[in-house]
Amino acid sequence: MSEYHVPVMLSECIEGLSIKKDGTYVDVTFGGGGHSREILKNLGPEGTLLAFDQDADAQQNLIEDERFVFIDQNFRYLKNFCRLHGAIPVDGILADLGVSSYQFDQAERGFSIRFDAELDMRMNQLGELTAKDVVNNYTVAELHRIFGIYGEIQNAKSLAETIATARLNAPIVTIADLKNAISNRIPRGKENKYLAQVFQALRIEVNQELEALKEFLVQSAEVLAVGGRLVVMSYHSLEDRLVKNFIAKGKFSGEVEKDFYGNNNKPLDAVSRGAITASDEEIKNNNRARSAKLRIAVKK
Ligand SMILES: C[S@@+](CC[C@H](N)C(=O)[O-])C[C@H]1O[C@@H](n2cnc3c(N)ncnc32)[C@H](O)[C@@H]1O
Repeated sequence: MSEYHVPVMLSECIEGLSIKKDGTYVDVTFGGGGHSREILKNLGPEGTLLAFDQDADAQQNLIEDERFVFIDQNFRYLKNFCRLHGAIPVDGILADLGVSSYQFDQAERGFSIRFDAELDMRMNQLGELTAKDVVNNYTVAELHRIFGIYGEIQNAKSLAETIATARLNAPIVTIADLKNAISNRIPRGKENKYLAQVFQALRIEVNQELEALKEFLVQSAEVLAVGGRLVVMSYHSLEDRLVKNFIAKGKFSGEVEKDFYGNNNKPLDAVSRGAITASDEEIKNNNRARSAKLRIAVKK
């Protein structure tokens, strides 16, 4: 399991869930199952854990335990599948967003700038959209938007134009093709950082990560029992902003709505002030923990 993925802020997440022995919990990002195993350790014989992962490879890590149910679906369908399993209301939900170390380390999945492979980047191998489709078929305006917003790339417009010009000659099929096509745009000395931002933008688009997160957050508030916990760990500022806003305001932008009596109309309250980050010790041992931001909320 530890080779597949080392769980980040494990004890902080478990503490955040405030596990009731006979409760029903959902780990919506099963991955290597590190967090799931720890949740099961804290549950009694009457407890239940549902775990989602849209990547078929995560099923290498399935846990043999009567209290454990695996759901091979996108967490944007949280409510439907919890309903299907008779699990609503649930007492706690954990989301550890993004891709696992395993996914990054599989060259052919196309997530990492370290390898050469086809531009894929699908977390769900059955997904219809690949990074190759995005790079070859999106308009300059669409590419500009995703590189600017998801990748926070300064020269996003000229990057988009460079790709559009390069693909006139021949389709951009592999990671090496993409690196070649954009080599003139990459700032010297910052190659890895720049490419990581390009890849991050493509990955977010391919997997519709922000749309899925928004749908998940809204549904999480609907399936939680009163007093139930939502624990979300994100690795990208756009994700963290969505989580923060939803907890603070019950929506993703604008101000919190008031009801007739002037009370805040929002389903969750923050448990922690601000985001929790990993300890220096953890970051020293696990580089992935560096950018992690953990937020914990309780259903009102
Ligand atoms: C950071 S890893 C989780 C690691 C896990 N907590 C552990 O301890 O091993 C994220 C996992 O969630 C899955 N995932 C990401 N977004 C998803 C989504 N929208 N629906 C279902 N699974 C998703 C990925 O396939 C990946 O396996």
